[in-house]
Amino acid sequence: MGLHSKDKLVLRGGELDSLPVLENAWLLIESGLIKDFGKMDSIPSHISNLSSQISAEGRYIFPSWCDSHTHIVFAASREEEFAMKIQGKSYEEIAAAGGGILNSANKLQKASEDELFESASVRLKQMIRLGTGAVEIKSGYGLTTESEIKMLRVIRRLKDQFPIPIKATFLAAHAYPAEFKNNHQGYIDLIINEMLPQIAEEKLADYIDVFCEKGFFSVGEADQVLKAGAKYGLKPKVHANQLSVSGAVEVSVQNRAISVDHLEESDEETIRTLRNADTIVTLLPSCSFYLGIPFADAKSFIRADLPVALATDYNPGSTPSGNMNFVVSLACIKMKMFPEQAINAATLNGAAAMEMSEDYGSITVGKKANLFITKPMPSIAYLPYSFGETQIETVILNGEIYNG
Ligand code: NIG
Ligand code: FE
Repeated sequence: MGLHSKDKLVLRGGELDSLPVLENAWLLIESGLIKDFGKMDSIPSHISNLSSQISAEGRYIFPSWCDSHTHIVFAASREEEFAMKIQGKSYEEIAAAGGGILNSANKLQKASEDELFESASVRLKQMIRLGTGAVEIKSGYGLTTESEIKMLRVIRRLKDQFPIPIKATFLAAHAYPAEFKNNHQGYIDLIINEMLPQIAEEKLADYIDVFCEKGFFSVGEADQVLKAGAKYGLKPKVHANQLSVSGAVEVSVQNRAISVDHLEESDEETIRTLRNADTIVTLLPSCSFYLGIPFADAKSFIRADLPVALATDYNPGSTPSGNMNFVVSLACIKMKMFPEQAINAATLNGAAAMEMSEDYGSITVGKKANLFITKPMPSIAYLPYSFGETQIETVILNGEIYNG
């Protein structure tokens, strides 16, 4: 299933409704690529006689999830904030009380590159077992030149050592370090004049991101950072409208963002701005679930013909989970997306939000064979319906069974 044609690189609005499926089918993989597929009743004998075969009887073959928004390089979990949340403290209140991003940054600055690599590897393996076959990872818990580069080097090691494609996003504009609390321009200058040139020199990042939000980076500050990134060829993927409608979407679109992510808050103006752009709208429902903030208005975005993607936002503060199956379930249950829409948003559109939909995100001849085979299931909708349980039986990456 997920048999989109080679030229369909992103699905907008109503296009998300259609998830082409072939029942009783065979699929041929050669040299790590999807070589061909068809119906069992017309399988060519040279294919049915191949020695290396996997039976998928009663099962479904999905294209791997493409998780286009994560922060999986971090030094420590933050479950002490969990109790504060249960007591009713908001994300902003916890950050103001010494929790939040600055807490993660303190811990990350003290951790070694090896320690960070080891713990991120454990998370990434778990995500792969849960069906993720392409991922984007952000920096943003370093907040000093040294530690931002340390994070990006960890992401590069993950790229080198894991069998899935990984994109790296530079997110030093995640929070103001304490020493720059009253000197925002000083930190922005540090990002622009010191961090960016070194990162570009070592080719450590593919994208640039800013947490554009009240109490974090203003629209004008975001604009400066995004424009500086563009000078080094880093396209924007922006944290926008998570806690308030802030003008973040507008500044992202003006800077030709690949994606705007979150959008738990939006209004008519947000939608109007996005209608005139190619920017992908990446929704992160497990963040809403965990923080208890509103779920994004996916239906309005789809009705407005926008390209909606889904991702986890896996991070220690707002989404301590990298489970795309749960994201797809939440998208259906809480944002009222149909299973077909949610699956398309979590596969082809996720790949598009990482500019890799030519090679990933659907079962299409010539694309990489990054797939998973489910347990026996009565229908595709059973996967999001049976939330909290994994339906994944076999993970295939580059045509090989993954046993990591
Ligand atoms: O996407 N909003 C900004 N960044 C993360 C949370 C970071 C944190 O709390 O550590 C997010 O939700
Ligand atoms: Fe995030």
